[in-house]
Amino acid sequence: MMDPHPSDLAHPPNEDHGVISLHAPIVHELEDPRDGFEPTPMWWVFAVMALLGWGGWYLGTYSGNFQPDVYDERPGVATASVGAPAPQADPMVLGKRLYANCQACHQAAGEGVEGTYPPLRGSEWVTGDPETVVRILLHGAQGSMEVQGKAYNQAMPAWKHLKDDQIAAVATYVRGSWGNTAAPVSVETVAAVRAATSGRTQPWTMADLKRARQEPSQVAAAGI
Ligand code: HEC
Repeated sequence: MMDPHPSDLAHPPNEDHGVISLHAPIVHELEDPRDGFEPTPMWWVFAVMALLGWGGWYLGTYSGNFQPDVYDERPGVATASVGAPAPQADPMVLGKRLYANCQACHQAAGEGVEGTYPPLRGSEWVTGDPETVVRILLHGAQGSMEVQGKAYNQAMPAWKHLKDDQIAAVATYVRGSWGNTAAPVSVETVAAVRAATSGRTQPWTMADLKRARQEPSQVAAAGI
């Protein structure tokens, strides 16, 4: 409705009816619906905008950057609705992803940085018995360490906040990449080493690791 003209306000209200009825034919003409040219309803515009916004959010959240080797780590999420068991993730795929945590120090191809970060490619610590690499991953390492005949003496952080399957996957990845051909590490081995070393508060030294290696395996004692 148009605002009343100032002069209209001076007249008693019943005179307004005269003005309205006078204009009725014109108003009617203006509002006459035209076939085929209905304007888009506002609710429809908002619905489409909301749908596009949701689509953008969904892609941003679940696209995994459109990388082909991404998978959903959360157990059972994809299949929870049909009640089937979660498909087993490929440890090499998960391990490669987790290796992003190690890469800054040990480098993309496990070559390390001479004098600072030891190599994982061709390292006897990596490809030896699986318990040793799991010990290093769970509690870290410090002090002088010899890798492929070269000495290193820096600190390696602990990764015990990672879950057993994550430790197993990254250990499996480093044991099976860049020319390393050691056997995969099982989740059970990680669980057993974690249990056997749960009292440990310090990172491993080379001497500690050698001693642990010689002890009758706690892992064997745990029935693995
Ligand atoms: C902040 C740097 C840093 C990060 C991150 C790091 N490391 Fe290390 N890592 C080291 C250092 C330094 C040593 C040697 C420790 C020493 O001198 O006592 C080492 C030693 C090792 C060793 C034994 C020595 C060898 O070269 O084989 C392994 C195995 C290893 N790291 C694996 C990993 C894995 C797997 C990750 C990722 C989950 C990782 N590290 C993350 C710095 C790092």
